[in-house]
Amino acid sequence: MRAFAGRRVVLAVSGGIAAYKAVEVCRRLVDAGAHVTPVLTPAAKRFVGEATFSALASERARLSLFDDDDPIPHVTLGQQADLVVVCPATARVIGAYAAGLAGDLLSATLLATRAPVVVCPAMHTEMWEHPAVRDNLRLLAERGVTVVAPEEGRLAGGDTGAGRLAAPESILAAAAEALAAGPQAPVRDMVGLRVLVTAGGTREPIDPVRFVGNRSSGKQGYAVAVEAAARGAKVSLVATVRRPLPDSVDLVLVETAEELRAAVVDRLPAEVVVMAAAVADYRPAAPAADKIKKSGEARTVTLEPTPDILAELGRGGQVETLVGFAAETSDVLANAEAKLRTKGADLIVVNDVSAPSVGFDGDTNEVVLLDAAGRTAVPLTSKRQVAQAILDRVVALRAAR
Ligand code: CTP
Repeated sequence: MRAFAGRRVVLAVSGGIAAYKAVEVCRRLVDAGAHVTPVLTPAAKRFVGEATFSALASERARLSLFDDDDPIPHVTLGQQADLVVVCPATARVIGAYAAGLAGDLLSATLLATRAPVVVCPAMHTEMWEHPAVRDNLRLLAERGVTVVAPEEGRLAGGDTGAGRLAAPESILAAAAEALAAGPQAPVRDMVGLRVLVTAGGTREPIDPVRFVGNRSSGKQGYAVAVEAAARGAKVSLVATVRRPLPDSVDLVLVETAEELRAAVVDRLPAEVVVMAAAVADYRPAAPAADKIKKSGEARTVTLEPTPDILAELGRGGQVETLVGFAAETSDVLANAEAKLRTKGADLIVVNDVSAPSVGFDGDTNEVVLLDAAGRTAVPLTSKRQVAQAILDRVVALRAAR
């Protein structure tokens, strides 16, 4: 992995049985050319001796805020790091990081760094599923921290369930991605491209006050528009909701699928179209002109299909790179594969919207990117970082054409 060559990585190890697996992560980072500084909590030292990390890493393991030649090791390590990987991350360390507490060298380093941070939780299933742990992780993901979700498997004491530290390959892949995204200014790799993005859920009127809608917040589409603008693209956003946006983005507000379609068609051709909007598949066939009065009787609203805008763009030839979304609750990847084919898209962003912290309304997302060349998993992170991953893939697909 070239991503790590010459980069300074703090490997922050907290006290769980999975600390022994951090030894392997340490070795792989060093093999990949990283300069690795291990930082252990006192509890981590009970599981794996500091000599093991000191022998494998690029420098000796650090343990204490005070027991060091450097008078301020907590600041120095954090400031110098290009990346911090917390592996394993215990519930306590996750909680301290979310709350901004710095009781030891490891937590202090987390607060003192502006480098990207990857957190790899490992704990018993009951702890992993506890709302406090989930809330803390959601908060960290919203702040841009990459969370590498644990796997199901054997846990300490012979139990099995969710909470086992993710495989070293997954951790290294997430770390490489976080390092590439970095805190630095985004690369301007979309200069000269017209990028058209749609965002939010459409509202199909039943009468002047009621509508058929959905739970989309528009946040993911907005994140794509903001990211594309930061990379230098000329961005148009057709949205059903208003959110903060740089002045350079041309915003059109619409309500219905038909209005969204008209606004999109009006802005073609475009090199890239990202259909993040949750467009209604059906609309009331005959919306009432006046407010429907209560009658006490059961009512039927007849729905008719709306135009499938993504499929229409897939057939039309006015878009070079077409990105669709697939919000699924079952047979997630199979359904998304089918959408890639039938809609003529170049890339499908798949959301399992039945999973917690994913998809609608929140500030975090976890997706799989599907294209003809294969799949790329984007672990739970902020919607802005998901937007970065989508546009990275768009740029790569365009370069490979
Ligand atoms: N889409 C569209 N026009 C529609 C419906 C959906 O352009 N009338 C686009 C969405 O913007 C999204 C993609 O199609 O990019 C997938 O939407 P989704 O609702 O997941 O799929 P559907 O095709 O509607 O299939 P289903 O609801 O049966 O899963």
